[in-house]
Amino acid sequence: MTASAPLGTLAELPADYLHALDGQHAKPAWPSLRSLIPQGAPERRTLAHRWTYRDLRPLLLRAGELAPMERAERRVLMLSNPGLEGKPFATASIFLGFQVILPGERAPNHRHSPSAVRIIVEGEGAYTNVQGQRLEMRRGDVILTPAHLWHEHAHDGEGPMIWLDALDVPLMVAMEAAYGSPGSVQTSSQRLDASQTRHRRGGLLPYERLGRRAQDYAQFRYPWAEVREALLDLAKDTPTGQAVQLAYVNPETGLECMPTFGFSALMLRPGEEIDMPLTSASTGLLVLEGSGRTVADGKTLTWEDSDVVAIPTHSRIRHCNASARQPAFLIQVDDAPMQRKLGFYQQF
Ligand SMILES: [Fe+2]
Repeated sequence: MTASAPLGTLAELPADYLHALDGQHAKPAWPSLRSLIPQGAPERRTLAHRWTYRDLRPLLLRAGELAPMERAERRVLMLSNPGLEGKPFATASIFLGFQVILPGERAPNHRHSPSAVRIIVEGEGAYTNVQGQRLEMRRGDVILTPAHLWHEHAHDGEGPMIWLDALDVPLMVAMEAAYGSPGSVQTSSQRLDASQTRHRRGGLLPYERLGRRAQDYAQFRYPWAEVREALLDLAKDTPTGQAVQLAYVNPETGLECMPTFGFSALMLRPGEEIDMPLTSASTGLLVLEGSGRTVADGKTLTWEDSDVVAIPTHSRIRHCNASARQPAFLIQVDDAPMQRKLGFYQQF
């Protein structure tokens, strides 16, 4: 028998046998084996899709009127991939949602088993407290709130504050391991966070950290201003055709900043068109600057500032900067770290 030979079907099995199996809460594997584990390539429901910030922003602001913070706890519009039958997930493993907080509001302290990362989209004057560490929020900043760590948000500035949340909640839900707990208001430190002090520069560590066990989360905030500058420098030394891309890592381990998700910043030079490696990971993108298009699995998605793109696993991806004069900048989130840890990540 060859590997591609058709397998037996349920219809070929006697009714009394199927009835007996039902009575034992058991099922024959062979009739559904090919749908569980398709041959050659995975079955993907996630569609390559773009959400337009210009269209979503007014709906997000309206949520500010419709759902007071005490009735919402977190005022988020979840990005629901049109291929995932109403599930509130951007890809099969990545949750993305725009969150808004208004002046004077406070999103109460809580913690949960899913890990969350914020990418700041708009506004000034808000901050997140993570485990008592106060983290300023400025456009493009990446801020970590890892699993089971306390976090709350507050906004002392003017105008709406909006960010994109990325969570590994689809995995937690699939494992029946998603839950959270409320907490009392944090006493936040007025000290500057590690991104401005202890891990201010790549390649440098506070001396006393040498030889010590690395902290799981040495740094919670990655300021965009410094990442953008680093990308511009990296671009000078990156051959044409190769992506100008920087990974967000734990500065004490050099490994991905979160255990389940990878975050990276991508710069497209003026007029650049670039093919990304074909991998088994699924991907989300937030556009920070510029305009262009992404071709994923043959589908063309145009984008501009603050738009979000979702791309399924095993996709051919090509990014194009529409401007011949200005660079474009995107933040990428992908599920490669969880795939690597589970031992099945592939780059083809
Ligand atoms: Fe949370």
